[in-house]
Amino acid sequence: MDTNPALPVAELHLHIEGTLQPELIFSLAERNGIELPYGDLDELRSRYEFTDLQSFLDLYYANMAVLQTEQDFADMTRAYLARAAEGGVRHVEVMMDPQAHVSRGVPLETCVNGVASALATSEEEFGVSTLLIAAFLRDLPEDDALAVLEQLLAMNAPIAGIGLDSAEVGNPPSKFVRLYRRAAEAGLHRIAHAGEEGPAQYISDSLDLLGVERIDHGIRCMEDAALVERLVRDQVPLTVCPLSNVRLRAVDTLADHPLPAMLSAGLNVSVNSDDPAYFGGYVDDNFSQLRSVHGLTTHQQAALAANSIRSSFASDARKAELLGQIRAWEIAAHVRS
Ligand code: ADE
Ligand code: ZN
Repeated sequence: MDTNPALPVAELHLHIEGTLQPELIFSLAERNGIELPYGDLDELRSRYEFTDLQSFLDLYYANMAVLQTEQDFADMTRAYLARAAEGGVRHVEVMMDPQAHVSRGVPLETCVNGVASALATSEEEFGVSTLLIAAFLRDLPEDDALAVLEQLLAMNAPIAGIGLDSAEVGNPPSKFVRLYRRAAEAGLHRIAHAGEEGPAQYISDSLDLLGVERIDHGIRCMEDAALVERLVRDQVPLTVCPLSNVRLRAVDTLADHPLPAMLSAGLNVSVNSDDPAYFGGYVDDNFSQLRSVHGLTTHQQAALAANSIRSSFASDARKAELLGQIRAWEIAAHVRS
């Protein structure tokens, strides 16, 4: 157990449905009278062995069946916020997948209001400021995404932006040009997963065709030197998720992860958990494993944390406050060593 104070960070790549812990899956199933296809927790946990992104997505979507009421969504969100705050998260931009709920008959209001109600009290309860991002499933048609975005706008949903997730390969950014144009018109921030399993080209296409402000993952940029040069020049934020990349076999082991090379190249990278209930850890777990495997220095950790704050959509005042906390953490860490 690490007794040092947690590094203050912003978590910029977090799927709220990916925070659903096995224990909560069982308790929500019982509350909602849902029969699970697993006899007990151990049997469920034995499924958390993934061969690629799709093998994870199959379980991730199946487990969402237990989310039925506003209370379910709020409980899941509150559990994440409590754990994240303990691990040093001070600001989070939470993605949710509305289409994954609407498609199984849960009203849009139920999922949005449930998550949003927990986010609304987060700063007071946990000291964690929050924003909500509606992520769209790239393996569904663009018209489906557009219809849900229009409903979100019509109901004045408290969303700060849109994202793009789910099965990447074969679902290129070019499929979602109209969706991102509509989001821009509505004054929303725009981010997208790219270069997780998909090629480096999806990263440049997300920037050029969708106008995104941040790239989720982006690790495959390392295969294209000209793209790296562009991302460094423009300081495009890349929200990297090391434990996720290992568990989904985007990299072989944490020792092979490109994060240190990305930092050395001058890329604007941050460390995030993606789906912490599925990938073996929260942001602080990602940092502690990076420390032990890659020997990240105090200064490198503080730089990664500062990148997360600067790359967030928080207000300038909140960013200044959190950057001050990181400086204080770094000074205290030097004094301790
Ligand atoms: N949905 C939840 N986690 C995801 C990931 N790592 N990549 C794509 N879609 C996701
Ligand atoms: Zn993700």
